[in-house]
Amino acid sequence: MLTNKPKTKILVDGGDPNETLRVKNLIGFVDGQTTNPSLIAKNPEIQQLIASGHTLSPEEEKNEYKKIVQSISPLVGDAGVSIEVFADLNTTAKDMLVQGQEMFRWIPNAYIKYPCTHEGLRAAQMSVQKSIRVNMTLCFSQEQAAAVYAATKGSNSPVYVSPFVGRLDDRGEDGMDLVRNIKKMYERGDGHVHVLAASIRTINHLLCSFFLCAELATVPSKVLHEWASAGFPLPDKGFTYKGADANGKPLKPIQYKELDLNLPWENFELAHELTTKGIKKFVADYESTLRRSA
Ligand code: E4P
Repeated sequence: MLTNKPKTKILVDGGDPNETLRVKNLIGFVDGQTTNPSLIAKNPEIQQLIASGHTLSPEEEKNEYKKIVQSISPLVGDAGVSIEVFADLNTTAKDMLVQGQEMFRWIPNAYIKYPCTHEGLRAAQMSVQKSIRVNMTLCFSQEQAAAVYAATKGSNSPVYVSPFVGRLDDRGEDGMDLVRNIKKMYERGDGHVHVLAASIRTINHLLCSFFLCAELATVPSKVLHEWASAGFPLPDKGFTYKGADANGKPLKPIQYKELDLNLPWENFELAHELTTKGIKKFVADYESTLRRSA
């Protein structure tokens, strides 16, 4: 069990309550959980339903998702459970908000995940006005994080923004730099947005998230098990992080930009190729699993 708890809150990145329970037994606590459509589609009970020849209707899909988060909800601490709305590239802010409002009622500790797109930002802006907690997902740029800050100003609970480290690494850019840059940019802010390091693939990503004082990190159970096996190391003052790809080739640094957090959120460039790709992937994973009859 972990005795020296890091300041960064630890969330399980998954879609299976039993897995969350195993991590909780291993570490001694779980601060929160993030889910997404790809992870829910991998849930063992859903997989079993599919294997038995069942095709889920949209209503059944929603109920399965609800059951899963209701089982996870009591297992986690105050970082809550993030539930992602079903959005493709044409989903409007109003539609996301309707889903978000319903999902927010599923459990007492919900955070609603909206993508860092124009419509997602609008949905988030309306959500915080209704005291719905939000987690802005698929964040790949400092501009998107600046827009999250500006769109959710005045929120009465912390807003999460989720920079996706691993997916930037995958295309040769140093994803940890994005976390570093957002943290630095927010130093001039009012503290209402918390950085949730996501798409964590390695212990090194995790240690660097601790070192950069990310408020939260969401971590696949596999990486948490590796961290436990290594004796729960924490970064020391001299910790250095060298981003490298699978072949050991250094990753391209992402430069810090001076951005004015006081500008209206619509002024920031929101488009990012990986956000678009990420939305398409969530839709494809979910559809291909759930609509397939065995
Ligand atoms: C969490 O909120 C994200 O959906 C998750 O970390 C994405 O991770 P991946 O890039 O490994 O799919």
